[in-house]
Order: sequence, then structure tokens, then C-alpha cells
Amino acid sequence: MKITVVGAGAVGASCAEYIAIKNFASEVVLLDIKEGYAEGKAMDLMQCASLNGFDTKITGSTNDYHKTANSDICVITSGIPRKPGMTREELIGINAGIVKTVSTNLVEHSPNTVLIVVSNPMDTMTYLAHKVTGLPKHKIIGMGGALDSARFKYRLAEALDAPISDVDGMVIGGHSDVGMVPLTSHATRNSIKVSEFISNERLEQVKQDTKVGGATLTKLLGTSAWYAPGAAVSGLVQAIACDQKKIFPCSVLLDGEYGLSDLCIGVPVVLGSNGIEKIVEIKLSDSEKAHLQTSADGVKKTNSLLDV
Ligand code: 2OP
Repeated sequence: MKITVVGAGAVGASCAEYIAIKNFASEVVLLDIKEGYAEGKAMDLMQCASLNGFDTKITGSTNDYHKTANSDICVITSGIPRKPGMTREELIGINAGIVKTVSTNLVEHSPNTVLIVVSNPMDTMTYLAHKVTGLPKHKIIGMGGALDSARFKYRLAEALDAPISDVDGMVIGGHSDVGMVPLTSHATRNSIKVSEFISNERLEQVKQDTKVGGATLTKLLGTSAWYAPGAAVSGLVQAIACDQKKIFPCSVLLDGEYGLSDLCIGVPVVLGSNGIEKIVEIKLSDSEKAHLQTSADGVKKTNSLLDV
């Protein structure tokens, strides 16, 4: 199983590290445009192999896509991260050009790859990848909901004063500070609805804290987060590489599902060796449906800024 990660910055390198530690891939190629940077990160990570007990071979490349040839899965993390006070959507001017070039180069060398897009504004970058690569739609996945759901569970556990292992919850919709739809009506503490334990007011606070989870960290760190994004995308990679048939909320191209079409937005999907095995349509409350529609309108507005 060969995985390529483009962008050896904090998110890409964290993703490569988590993939290696999970030890399901034979090879990870880390690629960056900065001279020597990916090679250095790969070597540093490889020097963890005996310490962290993995056999995955991590190599680095300075912008040589031949090294990525015949990858089974390619992850795009390249592009600039946001600064405090910025929205993800404000990154489109620079990141669209980068994602267009990177996705084209990747597919040229790995025509059968599954492509996972992380770069922001992620839903629009995922849509762009469809437009420029022509890959089958089940092979292009945007990572946002897995990260947002992890933040949702973190905030739910905090509110419940419960171990995170007891909490389950999902965030669908756009990966944006205003467009996320945390499904509080579905969230549980060990199969018990969380509304049995906490008030609606407290749940509203959990939803708000979840939606700005990325911005909260950007304010604290001065740049975008990287551990949880890297871990989230490594989970998608593992589900595909190991044909796990696990459900994740992922940004995928919709063609009528949830009453939405011609956009990529976060919905529950089954991930396996084919990439998106199935789009899962779940029952949503009227309020959740309305929020998803509003979120979709926001994603389409950002998509309209693309010149494709
Ligand atoms: C985040 O929310 C980088 O969009 C990513 O942290």
C-alpha cells in the first residue's frame, strides 16, 4: 500500500507520522516544494521507526512527482494555513492554484489513486479536484467532518464530564466556522442521547464551540492546528487502505442526496478500498435539514469564486 502526502508542513507531516505509527502502509512518500524539507521530515520520521515500532518506509521528495507514481491513496495538505481572524474561505485565492497543480500532477502519475483533500477552503478545493482531475466521484474525498466530529466529541465529553470513549457524535455540512452542522439530536453517551444529561442551552454552547474549533486553535497557535487534522485524515487513509467499511462524515460530490447537487459537502459515507463505498442518507430534523441547506448555499457561494 503506497500513500503519498503532498505538503510536508505540520498537517502533512503529522498525517505521515500517524499513518506510519499505525503500520498498515508499506510506503509513504512525503512531497513538498521547499528544497530538502520533505526529505528532512521523512528522515526525522524514519528515525522514529525503531522507537515507535513501525516498518513503514517514509521517503521525501522535493517536488518530484515521479516518486509518487502508482500511489493507492494521495493526500493533499499543501497550501497556506489561515492566520488568526481569517476564515478558511479567504485562502481560496492562493490555495486554488496550488490544489489545481498538485491534484493534476498526482493523478497524472497515479491515475487509479483515491484523492483526499485537506487544503482549505476544503469543500471548494474538493470540488475543484473533481473539475480538474476527472477522477470517478467515489475516488475524491474531502477531509473536514472527521476533524469537526472529533472536536464535537471533545466538547461533548467536556460538557458531560465523561470520558471521550463514552461519547459519539457527528458533524456534517461545510467545513467552515458558520456552515458546520453538529448533529446534537444524534449524539450519545454510551447509546444514551446526550439530551438526557445536558440542557439545550449547554448543547447550544457545545455546537458553537465545535463550529469555531479551528479558529479557537488558530487564535491560540497563531496558525492552523495540525495534530487533530493529521490524525483525522490518517483515519480516512486507514479505512480506505484496510477496506474497513467505516462511516465517516466526508466532503463528497452530491448528486441529489440530501436534496443537494453539484457541490462537495460533509455527509456520512462508508469508506473502503474503493474510496466512497456508499453515501449514507440519515434522517435529519427540520432544523438540521435547514442548517445543511444554508451550509450548502455557503459552499456554493465559495465555489462560484473558482474559475473552472
Ligand atoms: C482546521 O479546522 C485546518 O481546517 C483545519 O483546523
